[in-house]
Amino acid sequence: MHVLVTGGAGFIGSHSTEALLADGANVTVLDNFSAGKRSNLPETHANLRIVEGDIRDTDTVAAAVSGITHVLHLAAQVSVQSSVSDPVNSSQHNITGFLNVMDAARRAGATRAAYASSAAVYGSPQTLPLDESSPVGPISPYGLEKWINDQYARLFRDLYNFSSLGMRYFNVYGPRQDPSSSYAGVISKFASAITSGTPLRIFGDGGQTRDFVYVKDIARMNVHALKSSHNGICNIGTGRSVTLLGLVDALERCAGRKAERRFEPPAAGDIRESSMAPQRQRQWFNDQPATTLDEGLAALLATLPGH
Ligand SMILES: NC(=O)c1ccc[n+]([C@@H]2O[C@H](COP(=O)([O-])OP(=O)(O)OC[C@H]3O[C@@H](n4cnc5c(N)ncnc54)[C@H](O)[C@@H]3O)[C@@H](O)[C@H]2O)c1
Repeated sequence: MHVLVTGGAGFIGSHSTEALLADGANVTVLDNFSAGKRSNLPETHANLRIVEGDIRDTDTVAAAVSGITHVLHLAAQVSVQSSVSDPVNSSQHNITGFLNVMDAARRAGATRAAYASSAAVYGSPQTLPLDESSPVGPISPYGLEKWINDQYARLFRDLYNFSSLGMRYFNVYGPRQDPSSSYAGVISKFASAITSGTPLRIFGDGGQTRDFVYVKDIARMNVHALKSSHNGICNIGTGRSVTLLGLVDALERCAGRKAERRFEPPAAGDIRESSMAPQRQRQWFNDQPATTLDEGLAALLATLPGH
C-alpha cells in the first residue's frame, strides 16, 4: 500500500502514520502544520514522504496523490466552536478540502479511502446506544460537514466505483493531543491539569457520559479500514461509556493524586449522554478498541511533564 495520510502530522494522523509504517506501507503525509507538528513524525524513515501543503489547494493535492493506492483523510478544521463562529471557513476545510482529496485520489487511480467522519453527525441522541442506523441530526456546522462527507463518499462509490469507509470516531484521547487549545478534548485538559496541580473545570454536574477511545486503538482501526473491503460508515469506540466524574476518579487513580474539582455552569449545547454500539466494528474488522480507560490514562500521563 502507498497511503496518502492527510493531517498526518496531527494527533490521530501521526499515530496512524506510525501504525501504517509499522505495517510495511509507504506513506505520504500531507499537512499544512496549522495544528500538526513535524516532531509528531519520525525524523527520517525510508518509507515516509512529508508534503507541507493545504487540502484546500487543488494543485497541492494533485501533486500529493501521485503514486498512491489508498488515502486516509484526516485533515480537517476540528473545532466545533470554530465551525459555529465561522461556518464558511469550516466548510472550506471540511467540505471543499474533503472533495479535493477524494476526487484527486480517485483520479490518481487510488482504489480505496478511509476518512474521519464523527459521532457529531448524530447530534443529540434520541436513543442509546448509537448504532449506524441511528438517526443523524447534526447540531453544529462541523457535524453537518462530516455528514455531508458521508454523503459524498456514498456518491463517489456509486458514480466512480471508488470504495470508502467513513469512521465515526467517538471521543479520542491519548498522547500528542494538544491540551492548550480552547477546544481540546476533556481528557487532555484534565490530564494536564492534574499533573500541574491546577483545578479541573467541570461544566455541569459531571454526570455527562462519553465513550473515550485510546488513539492507538484508533490508529489500528484506521489500518483495518484501509485494508478492508467494507463500504459505508462505521462507529468507532469502546462500547463502554463513563461519566465525567468517573473519568476524574480514574485519572486520580492513575496519577496517584487527588484533583481539585471546580464545578461550573453547564456548557450550552452540551450533550448529556453518549454511547455507541460496537457490533459493526467488531464484525467488519474482527477487532475493536481494547485499551481500558485506566491503561490509556496511565500511558497518556506517562508522557506528560511533571508526572
Ligand atoms: N479527536 C477526536 O476525538 C475526533 C473525534 C471525531 C472525529 N475526529 C476527526 O479526526 C480527524 C483528525 O483529528 P485530530 O483529533 O487528530 O485533530 P488534529 O488537529 O490533531 O489533526 C488535524 C490535522 O490536519 C491538519 N490540517 C488542518 N487543516 C488542514 C488543511 N486545510 N490542509 C492540510 N492540513 C490541515 C492539521 O495541521 C492537523 O495536523 C479530523 O478529521 C477530526 O475531525 C476527531
